[in-house]
Amino acid sequence: MSAVEEADVMAVLARPVPVGVLAEALGLPGVAADVVPVAAAYHPHVTPDADAEAAVGRLIAACGGPTELTAARIGLLVQACDATAGLIGNALSASLAGKPAELLAEPPVVATRRRVDGSDVTVSLTGTPFGAGPRECPGSRHAIALATGVLQALRGFRLTEAETAWVSSPNLRMPAVLRVTRG
Ligand code: HEM
Repeated sequence: MSAVEEADVMAVLARPVPVGVLAEALGLPGVAADVVPVAAAYHPHVTPDADAEAAVGRLIAACGGPTELTAARIGLLVQACDATAGLIGNALSASLAGKPAELLAEPPVVATRRRVDGSDVTVSLTGTPFGAGPRECPGSRHAIALATGVLQALRGFRLTEAETAWVSSPNLRMPAVLRVTRG
């Protein structure tokens, strides 16, 4: 980012970098750019567009075809994407605004859903940054390590806009865009 005056941290680092590291570890280098649009489209309140559908197709092909293992790998990368980006975005936005930059102070995933007796039920995650019980997040330690690394790389940057644009989603609380510059 040193060659540019200003950059959107969410687009250039927070979304693609953690997913890129995980994908590389899974033997899937180069798929991060396709995980980002799928992660934005898989929520129940979003209708996937043609770009997201095409990206899923490419991910399935990159994983070797439509198998259970492919579904698990794509699911893992998609689950990691926005949540870890939110961890980074929330901590960064707090620290650059002069608040304590504690990583889990403002968890990005605020609610999840369950289907009970045929009805969708929204479950608040307040007080449990990574969920709880049998569906608790299995990636918490990876997420904290990845977010910590990205935040270290961003020391010395400052926000260029006073107001943060937040993602419009009932279950995520994180910046949509976070423009920073050095110094
Ligand atoms: C390396 C990054 C991450 C990976 C690989 C990852 C992976 C996953 C996976 C595979 C699940 C589904 C578990 C299941 O259904 O049994 C999950 C659930 C969950 N993750 Fe993560 N995750 C990551 C980062 C995060 C972050 C940063 C947060 C929030 C701070 C988060 C919060 C959650 C929550 C709340 C659930 C439970 C959702 C529910 O109960 O419906 N995850 N994660």
